[in-house]
Amino acid sequence: MIKVKNICCIGAGYVGGPTMAVIAQKCPEINVRVVDLDKDKINAWNDSDLSNLPVKEPGLSDIIKKVRNKNLFFSNDIDDAIIKSDMIFIAVNTPTKTSGEGKGMAADLKYVISCAENIARVATKDKIVIEKSTLPVRTAEKLKEILSKNAKPNVNFDIISNPEFLAEGTAINDLYKSDRVLIGGDNSARGKNAVDKLVNIYTKWIPKNKIITTNVWSSELSKLASNAMLAQRISSINSLSALCEATGADTDEVSKVIGLDKRIGPRFLKASVGFGGSCFQKDILNLVYLCRGYQLNEVADYWEQVIKINDYQKSRFSKKILELTKDNNVTLLGWAFKKNTNDSRESAAIYVSEILINNNITIHIYDPMVSEQRILLDLKLLFEYKNFSKKEIDKKLMNVNIYKTHNEAINNSKVIGLVTEWDEFIEYDWEEISQKSNISIVDGRNILGQRLNNINNIKYFKL
Ligand code: NAD
Ligand code: UGA
Repeated sequence: MIKVKNICCIGAGYVGGPTMAVIAQKCPEINVRVVDLDKDKINAWNDSDLSNLPVKEPGLSDIIKKVRNKNLFFSNDIDDAIIKSDMIFIAVNTPTKTSGEGKGMAADLKYVISCAENIARVATKDKIVIEKSTLPVRTAEKLKEILSKNAKPNVNFDIISNPEFLAEGTAINDLYKSDRVLIGGDNSARGKNAVDKLVNIYTKWIPKNKIITTNVWSSELSKLASNAMLAQRISSINSLSALCEATGADTDEVSKVIGLDKRIGPRFLKASVGFGGSCFQKDILNLVYLCRGYQLNEVADYWEQVIKINDYQKSRFSKKILELTKDNNVTLLGWAFKKNTNDSRESAAIYVSEILINNNITIHIYDPMVSEQRILLDLKLLFEYKNFSKKEIDKKLMNVNIYKTHNEAINNSKVIGLVTEWDEFIEYDWEEISQKSNISIVDGRNILGQRLNNINNIKYFKL
């Protein structure tokens, strides 16, 4: 079998950047090009100051330092990368559609489709095209059609599904020690050959028994289903946290007991303000939409409920804050959808803020990693989606203050909503903070309970 020497990845985001960095590090004999339309993002990937990388992940900058411009290259020249590569990963975003058929439910495939058109337009020899993005089941069929319709004569494409399972904040570790690598290909001789080429790359650092090969549809669906199952666990424990509050049971204790059953296990049972992130919600909506397309309405309703509980949890948290607020000011600690990332897509903080702003609350926000610009953009995008005019949006955003230090944010109100589980929040001098005034904290991550045990001036509420 001819060995793969040049690969590229279209999409230099949270998946494309870290995944290709690890491949480049583990396979020094392969040239890896990561390309993107976004010029600022590529400049940031090429910045000599590694603290400016667009994706913040523990361990990532060390790898970039070693391999960048040796066998890992970031560029905006997408056509050149396609032409030079034997294997092309598509790792572009697949958000929920915001207009047209399937608005608010279906995955928007326009970026993936435009990649396929681009590949077909410029490729002068056969290519293996790899679906790295999370896609609805049977997307490969659609891609095949686009590729063959637009291809130059005698140029053929093999399509493989290789969904990514990394989680943000632990991406590098997840890539180094994946629970499994999933590769879906078709059963023809060509298909098998293409799958083998990808398997050969991963075997450089992943044990063979962890590399699972399946048919394309199983691979596409397994990714959506894995995320749905993980999110379902969070919604299950979050639904029980409401019952704990009503009955006097303690969510952490209940969660610990449930998790000690080996059949269930302890992970992903941490009650929270609700799951966020760019993937769980969109992937479940995508699954629901698919089920409806196959007239499986009961199945669709079942999975939709996972989202409904998540929305319920965000409003339950916000309601608690509103009940405690006397002077129309609230501090929110954390904006990212989880700790150790600068990503805030679909963060619970956005929806909590919406509810508070709609109730005329002025909010004071601090997050250690998410920029002021990003926080304002998150809110602006949400209000635009809800069809507010520019004037109305500007007025709403007047109620939003963002600070560079936690003290400034905390000093401006007597009620704190903790949204993200940043470690530094546990380390604050709460004793000193409580001496300035009586405060209430609604802990959306259940991380401060023990820390605040003997502090009298703080009213503490957990989920
Ligand atoms: P992202 O938004 O961080 O990155 C996507 C990049 O693709 C952007 O930089 C965008 O500019 C670029 N892009 C879009 N269209 C392009 C085109 N036609 N040509 C060149 N570049 C283009 O997205 P992400 O978080 O990396 O997610 C990518 C995919 O991986 C999604 O399908 C997502 O569901 C899936 N996924 C994400 C994660 C995660 O933790 N973020 C984990 C597993 C899977
Ligand atoms: C998730 C999956 O964990 C990855 O396997 C998957 O590859 C990825 O989605 C994807 O497809 O994009 P990610 O969204 O990065 O990864 O982060 P998670 O660690 O799964 O957390 C998601 C949300 O759930 C966060 O808001 C987190 O705080 C919340 N969460 C997680 C809880 O509220 N409780 C828990 O017990 C665990």
